[in-house]
Amino acid sequence: MKHKIINVEQSEYWNEKSGPKWVKNEDSLNERLSILTNELFTRAKIKASDKVLDIGCGGGDTTFRVSKLLADGGHVVGADISKTLLDHAKSKFSDIDTMTFVHCDAQNYSFDEKYFDKVISRFGVMFFESPSEAFKNIHGSMRTNGSLNFVCWTNMMENEFIVEGMDIITKYTEKFLPEVTKDPGPFAFSDPEYIYEVLESAGFKSINIDKVYTSISTKDSAEKDAELLMGIGPRARILSEENLSNEKISMIKDEIIKLCEQRQNEKKITYKACLNYVSAKK
Ligand SMILES: C[S@@+](CC[C@H](N)C(=O)[O-])C[C@H]1O[C@@H](n2cnc3c(N)ncnc32)[C@H](O)[C@@H]1O
Repeated sequence: MKHKIINVEQSEYWNEKSGPKWVKNEDSLNERLSILTNELFTRAKIKASDKVLDIGCGGGDTTFRVSKLLADGGHVVGADISKTLLDHAKSKFSDIDTMTFVHCDAQNYSFDEKYFDKVISRFGVMFFESPSEAFKNIHGSMRTNGSLNFVCWTNMMENEFIVEGMDIITKYTEKFLPEVTKDPGPFAFSDPEYIYEVLESAGFKSINIDKVYTSISTKDSAEKDAELLMGIGPRARILSEENLSNEKISMIKDEIIKLCEQRQNEKKITYKACLNYVSAKK
């Protein structure tokens, strides 16, 4: 099959700890994450008058979604360490009174004390240098009875979206998926006991962690989906480090497209996913 060669200069794009350095694949990811985002919002039970903090808000889509639920003095702050992503969020969602974006490291930023009723995050809390310090700081920003709700990945191997195509990449590169550790990164919070310890040490109460099996799906073509798979996560890092010829990249892509096609059913490509939904009270 003939197709364009994708650019896999990922190292310029991806920061090992905090993730994307510039805006990429945003709409594609928002589409794929829609089921789990709905679940996060159902659990967070945001009220119109709430003061809400969205940690690691990235391009601001979840922050914007919160803003649409607010009235009566409600306000949402989207906080992110990436100036590029925040500038993008601001340019997309300007002029909304109930929403502010703050460029900061949420681990030690001086948020208003005892201010937020709700703290939420979609995949934005796994990158702190010191998770205990970060969650103590977040705890201090919450009102008495305030609640925390976030979603994070469980084990990498339980998430087909993250590992699909990896066997093919290994075949061409002899590189394997990295070992998952508790170091800052997308899978730092895959172990519920560790999440519990971190939140408890930060002063949180009523900690609850639900491991939920769900799915990630897209209406994209198999080719577009294969490009995305090759452009994110550990696959992208390995491809960029290996400096493969265009021919090899093209062969890998052909094989991954076939995997995507095999998953396609009624124009939808679906992956099994497994997530930790975490909630806690101040
Ligand atoms: C995987 S992205 C998730 C972005 C967004 N929540 C979403 O679901 O589209 C992780 C985000 O956390 C941000 N981040 C990482 N470390 C951070 C920190 N210490 N303080 C604030 N934001 C941070 C990154 O810049 C990135 O935007």
